[in-house]
Amino acid sequence: MISHSRRQMENLVRSLAHLLVFLPIAASTAALHHRGDLSISDEPYGSLLSTSPSSSPQSPATFFEVRRPIPVPKTKPCSTLVLQHDFAYTYGKPPVTAAYSPPSHCSLGSLATSRIVLEWSAACTGRQFDRIFGVWLGGVEVLRSCTAEPLPNGVVWTIRKDVTRYSSLFSEPQTLAVYLGNIVDKTYTGVYHVNVSFHFYFDDNRSVPPLHQPDFGSSADLILPISKSLPLDDGLWFQIQSSSDVQGKEIAIPRNTYRALLEVYVSYHSNDEFWYTNPPNSYISENNLTGLPGNGAFREVTVSLDGHLVGSIWPFTVIYTGGINPLLWRPISAIGSFDLPSYDIEITSFLGNILDGKNHSFEFSVIDALDVWFIDANLHLWLDEHSTHTEGSLVEHEAPVVSTSLVSQFKGLDGHFDYIVNRTISSTGWVKSSYGKITTHFFQNLYYTNYMNFSGNGTIQTVNQSIEYNYGTFANHTSSLLYSDRVLQSFPLYLYTRTSDEVNSSYSSIVNITVGFNKKEYLGVQSGPSFSILRNLQDATGIMHVKGNLVTNGAANTRQVYTYGSSDGCYFRNVRSNNYTILFDESGELCTNGSLFRSPGNFPPRSRTWMMAL
Ligand SMILES: *[C@@H]1O[C@H](CO)[C@@H](O)[C@H](O)[C@H]1NC(C)=O
Ligand SMILES: *[C@@H]1O[C@H](CO)[C@@H](O)[C@H](O)[C@H]1NC(C)=O
Ligand SMILES: *[C@@H]1O[C@H](CO)[C@@H](O)[C@H](O)[C@H]1NC(C)=O
Ligand SMILES: *[C@@H]1O[C@H](CO)[C@@H](O)[C@H](O)[C@H]1NC(C)=O
Ligand SMILES: *[C@@H]1O[C@H](CO)[C@@H](O)[C@H](O)[C@H]1NC(C)=O
Ligand SMILES: *[C@@H]1O[C@H](CO)[C@@H](O)[C@H](O)[C@H]1NC(C)=O
Ligand SMILES: *[C@@H]1O[C@H](CO)[C@@H](O)[C@H](O)[C@H]1NC(C)=O
Ligand SMILES: *[C@@H]1O[C@H](CO)[C@@H](O)[C@H](O)[C@H]1NC(C)=O
Ligand SMILES: *[C@@H]1O[C@H](CO)[C@@H](O)[C@H](O)[C@H]1NC(C)=O
Ligand SMILES: *[C@@H]1O[C@H](CO)[C@@H](O)[C@H](O)[C@H]1NC(C)=O
Ligand SMILES: *[C@@H]1O[C@H](CO)[C@@H](O)[C@H](O)[C@H]1NC(C)=O
Ligand SMILES: *[C@@H]1O[C@H](CO)[C@@H](O)[C@H](O)[C@H]1NC(C)=O
Repeated sequence: MISHSRRQMENLVRSLAHLLVFLPIAASTAALHHRGDLSISDEPYGSLLSTSPSSSPQSPATFFEVRRPIPVPKTKPCSTLVLQHDFAYTYGKPPVTAAYSPPSHCSLGSLATSRIVLEWSAACTGRQFDRIFGVWLGGVEVLRSCTAEPLPNGVVWTIRKDVTRYSSLFSEPQTLAVYLGNIVDKTYTGVYHVNVSFHFYFDDNRSVPPLHQPDFGSSADLILPISKSLPLDDGLWFQIQSSSDVQGKEIAIPRNTYRALLEVYVSYHSNDEFWYTNPPNSYISENNLTGLPGNGAFREVTVSLDGHLVGSIWPFTVIYTGGINPLLWRPISAIGSFDLPSYDIEITSFLGNILDGKNHSFEFSVIDALDVWFIDANLHLWLDEHSTHTEGSLVEHEAPVVSTSLVSQFKGLDGHFDYIVNRTISSTGWVKSSYGKITTHFFQNLYYTNYMNFSGNGTIQTVNQSIEYNYGTFANHTSSLLYSDRVLQSFPLYLYTRTSDEVNSSYSSIVNITVGFNKKEYLGVQSGPSFSILRNLQDATGIMHVKGNLVTNGAANTRQVYTYGSSDGCYFRNVRSNNYTILFDESGELCTNGSLFRSPGNFPPRSRTWMMAL
């Protein structure tokens, strides 16, 4: 077994080296001994698809991520195709760019836009890995995503993302940049054909915000990128390669800012693609597994401003389309894989320190990071149009060290590891503008548990992880509540993998996985309170046989239940697939009583204690 481990480890290191040099991103299996690139050989396509009488082998398959369709006004949108490109051998080359200018036929000048939608539509035929990509407008990241792995007869997919929060970018000419590092050779033949469009929806009925009021509830007046600048031979993201790697940028903000919010995009790849399955280093070294990804299973992205910790990100476990067992994610892609979540950190409390017109440094690092994390951020700023200078002061800031407990017990390759980590961060500060003195309080309460178990001489791994990612913002105008946003999120993950010993560079693996993204949000703004509750759960089981880097055969079963209820409507979807074929697919938009979602009834918008109690 140990010698197997070594051989498997060598394979792993080879594939990772391959990955680092050529492929920033790869599909992989999560089993300890088998992590590397995986894509599908042509074989199972035929054998799996033959079980589906409804699909014509000639027509490309359509992959999708289950999401609530973006609610848009009934009016016809004004649309513009900004970029059309074929991504063949693009790895290590500069991002592909296109000029965006406010479409003259859309009369954006009136600023009555009620919704802006980015549409990514793509097609690919042949064999290809999943590739991470980013879309930036004026250096501001607006989409982080991963490609669908093609089938021999092709795959098509469309992502529609609400980009209304980036509205201020769209009224000026900008450079649109897309980095998708693809490699085409004799084996990996897939070229990604991509269109990027924007759709502008107008709604004459939209209520205009009252004049001369601070507007915390609407999109920012200015967005500054905290990303690398063009030209580049790579994406605009910073690449964090180890726990000591700190990266970021210095920027100066306008002196009449009255609110600031940092939106951070993160994705993890190569040695840290499956960070939540990594055992501690003691396990790696005592079992002579040197070279396997370790550092334990906890990762935290920290965000600092002039060296002070202002916020923390415990990322949701996105599984890319080739991850763990690629057969699981066709055609239903994993949660977040086509539109990775970004994370908001309110930094208004700190404005007093950075309103001096000078440069201040925003920096990112990742606790226990292995190579490589892609991180960048957008600084959303709200400006006081009636004055040239605002002033402010930080009143309170607490960021105690993270509280970590790891209980570890193992003998040889079998054992278990229990991680518990807690973190709280809070800050309060005031800003005086022509709107008066506004005091803002921001807090994060984060809890993490990860119970990991190896058995069967290291061939079986179970991971039971939970992340509670809770935060809130309260802004007071003198002593009355002006704005509040309270978010409760939980990210459960259960993973069972059993992997056979490797013989002649072939192995097989059985996997069970449950992954969930649950979010409740209560928002109190001047125009009225709103709330939303999302429960999004995927359950999948699969088996695959692998030779080299190719999945040669297998079977997969995936189901997903998505339940969304809000003051702005509801959405429900229950979908199940088996071997690439949809077995059933129910969806609806009715807000039904007695369903998973129940209205919280009379929502008291201005009671902070009520919201704190949630
Ligand atoms: C675990 O694997 C090692 C090496 O192959 C072997 O010597 C040992 O007997 C195995 N233990 C069990 C419980 O199967
Ligand atoms: C991109 O747009 C062109 C022109 O409208 C269209 O012919 C092509 O099929 C589109 N490609 C994709 C992948 O959507
Ligand atoms: C505006 O409101 C009216 C009356 O409520 C409605 O009939 C109409 O469809 C709305 N227009 C749009 C574009 O939503
Ligand atoms: C601020 O930092 C930017 C780089 O982010 C640099 O180009 C600029 O010169 C700096 N400005 C000052 C005043 O130091
Ligand atoms: C690890 O390697 C060392 C040195 O080669 C050896 O003494 C030790 O027995 C090995 N441990 C295991 C668990 O194989
Ligand atoms: C984390 O917080 C929970 C609840 O407050 C507490 O029970 C637990 O002991 C804390 N764990 C650590 C490692 O601090
Ligand atoms: C680990 O898994 C084995 C086999 O499933 C089980 O017997 C053992 O109780 C588990 N240990 C823990 C701590 O969960
Ligand atoms: C995962 O751990 C939680 C406790 O944190 C427990 O309630 C749950 O039953 C576990 N799930 C599985 C599948 O073992
Ligand atoms: C904000 O206003 C609420 C309600 O008036 C009050 O309870 C709270 O203490 C205030 N918070 C701050 C930070 O001033
Ligand atoms: C491994 O491959 C060799 C050469 O192709 C073959 O002779 C041998 O039977 C194979 N072993 C197994 C267990 O498949
Ligand atoms: C894996 O999933 C299958 C099908 O749902 C179930 O029968 C089996 O008990 C699960 N095994 C584990 C170890 O979770
Ligand atoms: C899925 O494919 C596998 C392997 O080809 C096959 O054994 C299994 O019966 C298929 N399942 C269904 C429901 O067709």
